[in-house]
Amino acid sequence: MNNHWSEYWQQGHTTSFGDALVGNYEGILKSIWQPTFMALQEGFTAVDIGTGNGSLPLLIRESLSRTNIKGQVIGVDLAEVKLAEKDECEQQNIKISLLSNEASESLPFATESVDLYTSQFGFEYSDVEQSIKEASRVLKENGKFSLVFHHANSMILNRNRNILQLIEQPQAAELVSCLNEIAIAMGKVSSPGDIARIKQDVICERIRQKINELIKSLVLLDEKATHDSQLMSFVAQFFKEGLFWPVEKKQQFIEFIKLQMETLKLRLTELVKASFDEEKLAQFIILFKKNSLSLNELKVLKNEQNEVLAWYLNAQKIPKGVEL
Ligand SMILES: C[S@@+](CC[C@H](N)C(=O)[O-])C[C@H]1O[C@@H](n2cnc3c(N)ncnc32)[C@H](O)[C@@H]1O
Repeated sequence: MNNHWSEYWQQGHTTSFGDALVGNYEGILKSIWQPTFMALQEGFTAVDIGTGNGSLPLLIRESLSRTNIKGQVIGVDLAEVKLAEKDECEQQNIKISLLSNEASESLPFATESVDLYTSQFGFEYSDVEQSIKEASRVLKENGKFSLVFHHANSMILNRNRNILQLIEQPQAAELVSCLNEIAIAMGKVSSPGDIARIKQDVICERIRQKINELIKSLVLLDEKATHDSQLMSFVAQFFKEGLFWPVEKKQQFIEFIKLQMETLKLRLTELVKASFDEEKLAQFIILFKKNSLSLNELKVLKNEQNEVLAWYLNAQKIPKGVEL
């Protein structure tokens, strides 16, 4: 599963929201963490699960940057992940390290060594029964367990479900094949004379019309999802920047589009599967007591437009001998 995440993180994104969110989390997905981060004490160890390129560790560092508190945050991910070079700086009170190829179901940390266990849109992708057991093992007594995780009816899920539905349409695959057909039919394009030739060419004209019909039909189906899927910007790039590329380079670009669409499909399918509806949440909550965790808070996070964004919960590890 994690090659596509590795490929995604290698593109340098900070969060899993890609180009839709330049930089790190903002709004409620940032502010909800402030009380938890500000309660961290000197010498703390925090662990962030499904950390990606370290969005949450970076928020911890930012929150504590104007304090004297020193501590470490270790981000763990099953994929290959990396902090951006500008964030690697050692001269900070909060040390961040990211561990790639590590699973939340089996963490490389000593028993009772962690003060805070966090995850933002990561934990739910794992085997949650195994991961919560492991979280409880590594947490110190009274250690905090805090998650923001996908809500099955959030605007994030709704938007991504629509994108998934759109890129699974046969027209989407057909559109990419038409790009390949037209790349071959156009042949070498290097001058305004070639453009005039292509405009007169019956085969090129037929494929161009087909491309327009396919785009129209996708837009008619769901204009927003067509835009959000990035398919249109790839097509635009092909006909603007790519028009004068050699045929071979055009075909490499088409292969790149195919790969992007395939990995997007995988990511979105996983996302839908990982999200929690009320029933799944109720099953999850049952696991807390079994794992010596006491639930302090559980709520739905909404944005400024009052749209559902995610679930939030925080819990605490109960010391041995204390009744839940
Ligand atoms: C949606 S991304 C979230 C990344 C980051 N927390 C953020 O908000 O930007 C989910 C991440 O969880 C990771 N992941 C999935 N299953 C995992 C597991 N069992 N253990 C650790 N990481 C996992 C994936 O590789 C991916 O990087």
